[in-house]
Amino acid sequence: MKQIVSISLGSSETDYEFKTEFLGQNFFIRRFGTDGDLEKAAEMLLQWDKEADVIGLGNIKFPYALGPKYLTRKHEGKLAKLGSQIKTPVTTGSELRDVSFEWCLRFIQYKFGNYFNNARVLFLSGMNNYRITKVMSEFTDNLTFADPILENGIAKFINSIKDLKLYAQGAHEILQWVPSKRLSKSVVPLKAWNEYILKKAMQKANIIVVPSYNFNDYLEKTSLEELGGKTIITSTAYEDRIAFLKERGVDVVIDTTPKILERVVAPNVLEALIISALGRKRDQIRKDDLLEIISTQKMDPRVVYPSGNPKRVNRFAFVIHPLSKEHLKKDKAIDFMTNITPPAFLDAVEKVIAYAPPWVYSRVTGIKSPTGAEAEGWLITVGGTPKQMLAHRPEFTYKRLLQAARMAKRMGAQIMGLGAFTKVVGDAGVTVAKKAEIPITTGNSYSASGALWAAADAVRRMGFLKVEKGRKIVGKTMVLGATGAIGSVCCRLLAKAFKEVYMVGRNTAKLLALKESILEETPNVKIKVTTRPDKFLADMDVIVTATSGAGKKVLDITKVKPGCVITDVARPLDLSPKDVAKRPDVLVIESGEIELPGNPELKSIGLPHKVVYACLAETIVLALEGRYEIFTVGRDIEWEKVREIYKMGLKHGMKLAAISGVNGIFTDKDIAKVKRLALKAMKKKAG
Ligand SMILES: NC(=O)c1ccc[n+]([C@@H]2O[C@H](COP(=O)([O-])OP(=O)(O)OC[C@H]3O[C@@H](n4cnc5c(N)ncnc54)[C@H](OP(=O)(O)O)[C@@H]3O)[C@@H](O)[C@H]2O)c1
Repeated sequence: MKQIVSISLGSSETDYEFKTEFLGQNFFIRRFGTDGDLEKAAEMLLQWDKEADVIGLGNIKFPYALGPKYLTRKHEGKLAKLGSQIKTPVTTGSELRDVSFEWCLRFIQYKFGNYFNNARVLFLSGMNNYRITKVMSEFTDNLTFADPILENGIAKFINSIKDLKLYAQGAHEILQWVPSKRLSKSVVPLKAWNEYILKKAMQKANIIVVPSYNFNDYLEKTSLEELGGKTIITSTAYEDRIAFLKERGVDVVIDTTPKILERVVAPNVLEALIISALGRKRDQIRKDDLLEIISTQKMDPRVVYPSGNPKRVNRFAFVIHPLSKEHLKKDKAIDFMTNITPPAFLDAVEKVIAYAPPWVYSRVTGIKSPTGAEAEGWLITVGGTPKQMLAHRPEFTYKRLLQAARMAKRMGAQIMGLGAFTKVVGDAGVTVAKKAEIPITTGNSYSASGALWAAADAVRRMGFLKVEKGRKIVGKTMVLGATGAIGSVCCRLLAKAFKEVYMVGRNTAKLLALKESILEETPNVKIKVTTRPDKFLADMDVIVTATSGAGKKVLDITKVKPGCVITDVARPLDLSPKDVAKRPDVLVIESGEIELPGNPELKSIGLPHKVVYACLAETIVLALEGRYEIFTVGRDIEWEKVREIYKMGLKHGMKLAAISGVNGIFTDKDIAKVKRLALKAMKKKAG
């Protein structure tokens, strides 16, 4: 049986010994802590020389991987000197530590699907965790290093690798701030301030990287407030450390040391084990050997959920805007002013607010998919009403949307959605997606899906059309705004479900091109295009209106047939409450809003609890799925994407919210009433 001895400068209270098998060989592993006594460690090293097959040295402060060479080598030099006096191979585990850090992060990023994308990561020691820093910077540039505070008592953070390098070389201007050690330790206000800003930084971070060495010292002053809901990356997370993190509400612990054995052991023990199993000398072990062992032995990184349940919280942002100047009155200050000043004041406010920089309207929390994934985010508002956005060039809105994207990125959002009119202006999100530093989606795929989902539900409940699986509906449907982003995809999907589709737009050439391309996909449908819907309205069973007419009259409801189902997707609505009231025998629904899974908390967006617009739901579905990509932009929405987001939504527990109209939710009783009135009107018309 081979003997592995680990001599650690750490506490002797956690000593252990056990037998194990590795790569078909038997090992006896023992750990001896020297409670920080270097002399004792040296003595033991000589004592175990030739007795053990390989000796590991543990709880050594690893040399920094950056900074002046004389400093980085100092530590290693001492150890090498000691090691050279003895015959048995000695290792500190530094090689495995480096390899496993990098491998662990890449593995998790891949396996958990973009886990680190744009995460806000706080390194308590960037210099100590430089390799993690470098790998992490490939996935996010939201990096904060607390080295100046914790090493030198300087009340400042470093926010880039470039600055960390300068700091390590003593060249960063931050070092001009160095207070004397005596001052930083003893002057209470400075120390308290440092503790305060460090706590704040921890609260803001999504991920905190804690060195294994001096782990307890780094975290001794933390509580639930700083660590609750966080992911902690560290190496060699012994059970007592996990228990400590659990008490403070940590969600996930990522241990970068691979878990090869039943027991959690430090990298020096693992590296000693590998050296011994391969029968190599210490300097004959290369990174490639270690990587091969890691992959052939399937040593997945150790991911611990202290609460016992897997947890992942993804982050999104979504841009909203006031729908009209009346909506601006929802702001208490404006409401107060408009009550005492003439209405012209509100016009002025509408114009001025359009120029305001974006601001956070609401934090969104508590969204939980049945898969276990969670999402949280921010609703960011830009000030322009649709009227103001249309009154300016598209660049005016792009500028504000890009400001919002920068804000979202800083806050750690991994994807941003564009609400209602913000994607109607200009090229429907294309320019913004090109220029923004986080992925953008307009949410139009799910808006189209939601509109048709709601229409299908309404048609089924009205019961005038026969809907059979796998067969086309014998009925006529019309889409207003057919050439638009949402309208065109509605046409594509309705063409698959209905025998006849009427497409209404203002531009015949665009309509004909759309007709051509739909017929290529779906030849067995009758398509009619028109710029004047009025003469066909009386024949339609289902109408979808999705124009960006911003409240202009596009549809004469008095002309539609009794029992018709109209889905009004437009925001502002194409049909005013006054119009709708004219036809109680027609079911007018306000497109398909989506009910979120979990128990979402957010400020009111004018919809019932848990219910959001489909475009916001698309952003949330993508966040839950970890699909941080430009999903829907531009006016050519692919119907495959509509289908994909619909399926993804079902997977994450999205439901079609109760269908509603201008007067709120339609109950079965309300629908029965519309149906009764429709039948009556039909009879009257026939008779
Ligand atoms: N309910 C939701 O969750 C949700 C989500 C996203 C968007 N929306 C709303 O849905 C609507 C459509 O959005 P979109 O992204 O598809 O916009 P879009 O790509 O700009 O398309 C708008 C369509 O409306 C037509 N149009 C514009 N002004 C018109 C007018 N005065 N009369 C008749 N037709 C007019 C346009 O015709 P031309 O081709 O001739 O210009 C175009 O076909 C907007 O009101 C938007 O706010 C709702």
